[in-house]
Amino acid sequence: MRTQVAIVGAGPAGLMLGHLLQRAGIDTVVLEARSRPYIEQRVRAGVLEQGSVDLLVGAGVGDRLQREGLVHDGIELRFDRRGHRIDFPSLTQGRRITVYGQQEVVKDLVAARIASGAPLHFEVSDVRIAGVEGDSPSIRFRHAGGEETLACDFIAGCDGFHGVCRGVIPASVLTVHERTYPFAWLGILANAAPAHDELIYAHHERGFALFSMRSPTVTRLYLQVPPDEEAHAWSDDRIWAELRRRFQGEDGWAPHEGPVLEKGVTGMRSFVAEPMRFGRLFLLGDAAHIVPPTGAKGMNLALGDARVLAEALQAFYGSGDKEGLDGYSERALARVWRAEHFSWWMTSMLHRFPGDDSFHHRLQMSQLRYVVASRAAATSLAENYVGWQG
Ligand code: FAD
Ligand code: DHB
Repeated sequence: MRTQVAIVGAGPAGLMLGHLLQRAGIDTVVLEARSRPYIEQRVRAGVLEQGSVDLLVGAGVGDRLQREGLVHDGIELRFDRRGHRIDFPSLTQGRRITVYGQQEVVKDLVAARIASGAPLHFEVSDVRIAGVEGDSPSIRFRHAGGEETLACDFIAGCDGFHGVCRGVIPASVLTVHERTYPFAWLGILANAAPAHDELIYAHHERGFALFSMRSPTVTRLYLQVPPDEEAHAWSDDRIWAELRRRFQGEDGWAPHEGPVLEKGVTGMRSFVAEPMRFGRLFLLGDAAHIVPPTGAKGMNLALGDARVLAEALQAFYGSGDKEGLDGYSERALARVWRAEHFSWWMTSMLHRFPGDDSFHHRLQMSQLRYVVASRAAATSLAENYVGWQG
């Protein structure tokens, strides 16, 4: 088997890259460890920056997104028992966000790929990468009971944080920057109509809570919990009672309650591996960097990496121009570090840290009050939230 670009992993990064390259007439093969139903049902992120929406629509995979995505003009920060709204369009020259589940983006991209007839192999195993330092890299893997070899010009490592691609880069070449946080998020999906039109990020003495949604009938909610928490320690009643407490304010607002459809705990970490290229191997998305979910950057970074690498590969195949490939890591990392800072800042401002003292707590409250009172500070939050274009 031979292709021009071999893509490991069918998450947002791998599928978007495959789609952009396929449209540009560049051959790709996508290898995915899991089954199609598994990747299409995995509940994860839900917020698309304006730039991600523009990318999906511009690439012809935005029809359902435009029909079903929920366009939001702002978010609420809730503290001191009151809601404080940050309006995006007025602070960012008209930019907005769209709430659309990651698994819906994945479904749309898988459908487009299958319709195009381009190869996408599910349930591959034992993926082994060779030759990325030379001119003819290859991937060996097992699929449908047989051993296969895929020869290619380039390998795109889009296989997430626990994938194999990052491990191919020697430790002497790779620098890792990392921070883990002393808490996790318990996330639920509930069969209940959203009780508010926009997302609510709540700072509360018992810990952070986030109100989000997936559709006019499904609410998504998160609670800050200890880092080693088990989801089954939280009965539905306990979850709703805690959510009511953390959102409680003078206005009496509370999320609508309904049957819990799904429940899971996500750890919180910041992680960047540099550089994002080694020879003919390029890393994209979570394979190279992780952000804590506060600020909703993970899926957007994965899509952004795909856009940058697709442009570079198009220039290379079009005219032999290697500049984009050589500049890929630096270009992608500039955006990654902005999102790393923003998500760290949002996380630090909104969560309770174990062992917080009164000084730390007063600083957080001062920062929150400043962000909603100062147009300059609100603008900084808004332009990062909708996606900094710098
Ligand atoms: P992934 O989506 O992880 O895709 C990688 C793919 O590679 C997977 O399909 C995997 O099965 C496949 N793979 C792995 N190893 C191999 C292999 N050896 N061979 C072949 N295929 C392989 N971000 C937010 O902004 N907000 C959130 O609320 C949020 N919640 C999250 C909850 C969870 C539980 C997790 C794990 C992440 C969450 N994120 C969230 C982050 C966001 O979902 C990711 O940043 C995003 O999925 C990154 O896309 P990706 O394509 O880089 O990686
Ligand atoms: C969602 C997740 C986030 O991390 C966030 O900051 C906002 C919304 C969500 O899943 O809807």
